[in-house]
Amino acid sequence: MLRLGILGLGEGRSTMSAALKSEKWELRTICDRNEDLCKQRAKEFDFQLYTTEYQDMIDDPEIDVIGIYTPDHLHATHIKMALQHGKHVVCTKPLLDSLDEAAELLAVSEQTGKKVFVGQSSRFFEPMKRQRADFEKGEIGALVTVEAQYNADHRWFLGKRWSLQESFMWLFGGLSHPVDLVRWYLPDLDEVMGYGMLSPNGAGGGLKNEDTMHVIFKAADGRIARVSGTYSCPIQPTSRESEMTCILRGTEGCSQADYMDLRYAITDKTGEEKLITFEDKLKYYFRFEGKSHHAGEYQNYLEYFADCLESGQTAYPDLKEGIGTIAVLKAMQLSLKTGLPVKIKDLLKDISF
Ligand SMILES: NC(=O)c1ccc[n+]([C@@H]2O[C@H](COP(=O)([O-])OP(=O)(O)OC[C@H]3O[C@@H](n4cnc5c(N)ncnc54)[C@H](O)[C@@H]3O)[C@@H](O)[C@H]2O)c1
Repeated sequence: MLRLGILGLGEGRSTMSAALKSEKWELRTICDRNEDLCKQRAKEFDFQLYTTEYQDMIDDPEIDVIGIYTPDHLHATHIKMALQHGKHVVCTKPLLDSLDEAAELLAVSEQTGKKVFVGQSSRFFEPMKRQRADFEKGEIGALVTVEAQYNADHRWFLGKRWSLQESFMWLFGGLSHPVDLVRWYLPDLDEVMGYGMLSPNGAGGGLKNEDTMHVIFKAADGRIARVSGTYSCPIQPTSRESEMTCILRGTEGCSQADYMDLRYAITDKTGEEKLITFEDKLKYYFRFEGKSHHAGEYQNYLEYFADCLESGQTAYPDLKEGIGTIAVLKAMQLSLKTGLPVKIKDLLKDISF
């Protein structure tokens, strides 16, 4: 069993549940500088080993892996500290909120031999897993284009102080999900262009950056894709719009994975149309009140990471792939600002891949 320390106990709550339920992980310590939150989690899970000091956790030789669930702008610092203390890292999305520390993180990971795995939860959700398996089996033929979106009424998120800082961007916090899904199928994106705006609701709530965005991509081989996201407006009922959706259009079929309703549909290469729901997995994926938590996906990705560490294989998205996605997000940010198409590789020229 691998021994895990979790930093940040907002979203880290789901990781606690995932680790405590998994046979591949032993939860060793939890950490948040907010002691009341530590106590709340300790009580909720009847798990008493907490600290308010990250340094205590990374100094603990009994911990193999640190799970990082702090605000986006702190990930780079927290990843670096964990690697330098000989820990592997699983870091939630967005891996980083800029490319400033990307080269250094690659170097530290290389020097220490410790792995960074990006917790891109949506890849590990049931409909998305099924879509990937069907794609790999050739059920839709050759991929032509990908359309992914993540629309959610996240005005509740503005209650978190860091969401109102200049550094907080829905471009990174929200669109990192659909952009990762696009890159899962089209890793070699070449160029991006898009438009974004701050909606009246977002501006009224104190947001500083765009909360409404539509972006298109061109891959090096000429295939195209698009993503969209809105974060401060109501959305459709889940029977019509499932917050996160990924559509793959292929030469012989088409598939659609929908998040909220655990729903998957495919027209396969035989022409058969199937609509599949995964009601039996509802309690595994959504363990707490409502559906805004991700314990099931996190358990899936923690177990995948454990298997990879044990077998010496790379867990994807790894640090390099994660930085590639941050470069795409950064290119999107530039395109939103300039109104012009942006070449992604221009942003990576100072980072040795
Ligand atoms: N599906 C997903 O993968 C998913 C979903 C939601 C959030 N997230 C990510 O999780 C991260 C955290 O989001 P959240 O909603 O939990 O935010 P949050 O503000 O609720 O929680 C962050 C916690 O980190 C703690 N913290 C900050 N700096 C610290 C430090 N130096 N030492 C100890 N504790 C520290 C804060 O006290 C806070 O409790 C974000 O990066 C977000 O994008 C991922």
